[in-house]
Amino acid sequence: MENDNSKIPVNGTGTVITSGEGNGIAFTETELPDVICMKNISISYDDGKTHVIKDFSLLIEDKPNQGQFVVILGPSGCGKSTILRFISGLQEPTSGEILIRGKTRKEYKSSISMVFQQYSSFPWYSVLRNVSLPLLYKGVGKKEAEEKSMEFIKKVGLQGHEKKFAQYPLLSGGQLQRVAIARSLISNPEIILMDEPFGALDTNTRSQMQHLLADIWLEYRPTVIFVTHDISEAVFLGDDIYIMSASPAYIVKHYHIGLPLERHMDMKKTKEFFDYVGVIEDEMHRVGVLKQS
Ligand SMILES: Nc1ncnc2c1ncn2[C@@H]1O[C@H](COP(=O)(O)OP(=O)(O)O)[C@@H](O)[C@H]1O
Ligand SMILES: [Mg+2]
Repeated sequence: MENDNSKIPVNGTGTVITSGEGNGIAFTETELPDVICMKNISISYDDGKTHVIKDFSLLIEDKPNQGQFVVILGPSGCGKSTILRFISGLQEPTSGEILIRGKTRKEYKSSISMVFQQYSSFPWYSVLRNVSLPLLYKGVGKKEAEEKSMEFIKKVGLQGHEKKFAQYPLLSGGQLQRVAIARSLISNPEIILMDEPFGALDTNTRSQMQHLLADIWLEYRPTVIFVTHDISEAVFLGDDIYIMSASPAYIVKHYHIGLPLERHMDMKKTKEFFDYVGVIEDEMHRVGVLKQS
């Protein structure tokens, strides 16, 4: 298929982009408040010899009363996890500025949750304890924390498993990621970072989890920043998709996905869905993010 963006309903803000190599900027600046603003972020290793990310910029603005699901799509090794670590404060860039709601990472006190690809629960604690942890850390009493945890355990379909240790094979891969999602939601965070959370799951479970996540997002409407290298997953979940180039990474393109906010599995069979996947795939080939076979 031709790389013809006019075939898909990309809206006004949807096709911002492109600038020189290593200097990509994805700023759709409007009067809306900024949620995450990254300006000219770089990270180098080997005393500056290897730049994994160079002059990376990305602005994610608020969509008041809607929440948003932002997907970052890019090839392995381009720096997607690194970007999430910068936002979460787990790692500092070599240079550049990151502001969350206008505040530096140190000043921003609200919680940011993170869900990783690797199962990140404590295997020596029960499911209930694992989900309760963020509240217990905040000083919420055990009884209250556990009551609230049970709500979220039900929400992710793990009722009846709450007393099990959060470990494989007592729980399956999909169930362990449900634990992580419940834990990420419990402190009602404004921002949730998800780093290829379904990457280790088989196709069916992955599909179920995408659906579960889409439903949960619709209910709570946080800002989710979801990293994947799976185009179909990106289109199914994403409200906005940013494509990252290979390292040294920059934002190659931004697509707004005009599908209804309420996503359901049947959408994956629609022409509109295939068109989005096709256009994004073509673009990724065009910029060399995907290699032509
Ligand atoms: N401490 C480090 N020293 C050298 N290279 C690193 C270090 N940490 C990460 N990298 C490199 O940075 C690149 C980006 O990593 P990562 O953010 O994990 O990519 P992605 O999540 O897109 O697959 C990789 O090539 C990785 O090898
Ligand atoms: Mg990664």
